[in-house]
Amino acid sequence: MHPITDLDVLEPVASAPDVPAGVDLPRTTPDVAGAGGRRVYIETYGCQMNVSDSELVASILGAEGYGLAASDADADVVLINTCAIREKAEDRVRGRLAHFRARKMGSRPDLTIGVLGCMAERLRTKLLEEERLVDVVAGPDAYRDLPRLLRSAAETGQAAVNVQLSRDETYADLAPVRYDSNGVGAFVSIMRGCDNMCSFCVVPFTRGRERSRPADSILDEVRLLIDAGFREVTVLGQNVNSYRAEAEGHSVDFAELLYRISLLSPEMRIRYSTSHPKDCSDELLHVHRERPTVCNFIHLPVQHGSTEVLRRMRRTYAREEYLALIERARGIVPGLALSTDIIAGFCGETESEHQETLSLMRAIEYDHAFTFAYSERPATYAARKYTDDVPDEVKKRRLTEIIGLQSEASLKRHRARVGRREMVLVEGPSRRDPAQLAGRTDGNHMVVFDAPAGVAKGDYVDVEITGCTSATLFGRASAAAA
Ligand code: 5AD
Ligand code: SF4
Repeated sequence: MHPITDLDVLEPVASAPDVPAGVDLPRTTPDVAGAGGRRVYIETYGCQMNVSDSELVASILGAEGYGLAASDADADVVLINTCAIREKAEDRVRGRLAHFRARKMGSRPDLTIGVLGCMAERLRTKLLEEERLVDVVAGPDAYRDLPRLLRSAAETGQAAVNVQLSRDETYADLAPVRYDSNGVGAFVSIMRGCDNMCSFCVVPFTRGRERSRPADSILDEVRLLIDAGFREVTVLGQNVNSYRAEAEGHSVDFAELLYRISLLSPEMRIRYSTSHPKDCSDELLHVHRERPTVCNFIHLPVQHGSTEVLRRMRRTYAREEYLALIERARGIVPGLALSTDIIAGFCGETESEHQETLSLMRAIEYDHAFTFAYSERPATYAARKYTDDVPDEVKKRRLTEIIGLQSEASLKRHRARVGRREMVLVEGPSRRDPAQLAGRTDGNHMVVFDAPAGVAKGDYVDVEITGCTSATLFGRASAAAA
């Protein structure tokens, strides 16, 4: 059992470790009284990076005496950390902003409303002028400026904005406040921005140029997590494989960084997200193979199964190269579990190109896939050069086929585990049945099992897998293993 930390007393609103990039979940702050200051409620949408950024914002504002509110109803300041990756994500945020604006116009004229993150730059004019929805706008590299922006908005009654992107901000010196944590898994951001310019993706425009955080500050943060009893760290970046930073007179790449993190504790599992197939090196695969705490799991987004569509997407690899990479990875790392991101209905996608996505999925049989219908994003290469010409109903039908095929593959991969024993890191009670525990295998498969006496979150347990669905493994646990 891991030592009780003050994080244990905070019941998580949602468990943090398993949010894939681009999934649009709201995340909220629990009740932590502030040092007599105003109370802030942070609602987070989008990817793990945004969850991690909200923890930095909580740290920055906490140092200024702000408290975290338990619910938006208790807050003096509501900050929405936004996602711009698909139109649907933006629509949800706009709905929330209108909701808070109505509150400000009614019962809470003193309420301050702020927009953080990826929607900040693109929508600032609209949100401030046309719709008059917000008081503060801060882009992903402007969080240190938030206390000033909040002060300025309060003093002048005018909206305060900073959407400046930076070439070197990594927030390396800040200690994130992990207010929504289950005390078992934590995110550590190792780089920011992206230079890849995939043609569908708005991230390089919203989050700016790629930059890596110094290795020593990453290692220090992981040491603190180990001391606080955390058992799993997910290192984050838009493209972690291209991590590169100078340390001790030489250049540390991602494989070395992961290796060095893995030396810090035999009990700290390590995952990462997100990686780009073009930079997945053999050295990295050997770190997976050789270091027992580096999970046998890689999220390796393919996006599409057709070389021609991959070219239009500017992914810089062909179908065959990706397939060869998977073969190499499975050869080097026995039992490697894989997940992916797939986009259906990209510009000009023909029926036979769509079939190539399905055939690639059949060839690989991913353990899990995050699947999306293409959504045109302003300013991207695709928006400027291609036509979003696949009709909505065709996109939906193709997406449904992709999802159906993935469910079959997930079920097959799960069934292959029935009868085996898996080392599960317990994350807490199962959401469906609180009498049972839930946790993850090394390969990131969710397992629900009866709780033997004395087993608690943060424990590693040896679980015999007895059944499954396409989403979950079920099992029987022996006593805690560590
Ligand atoms: N439309 C649909 N899906 C997108 N993604 C990124 N941009 C778009 C878009 N414009 C998906 C990609 C990426 C994941 C985070 O979101 O699959 O890997
Ligand atoms: Fe977007 Fe491509 Fe960068 Fe991922 S690698 S954030 S998909 S531009």
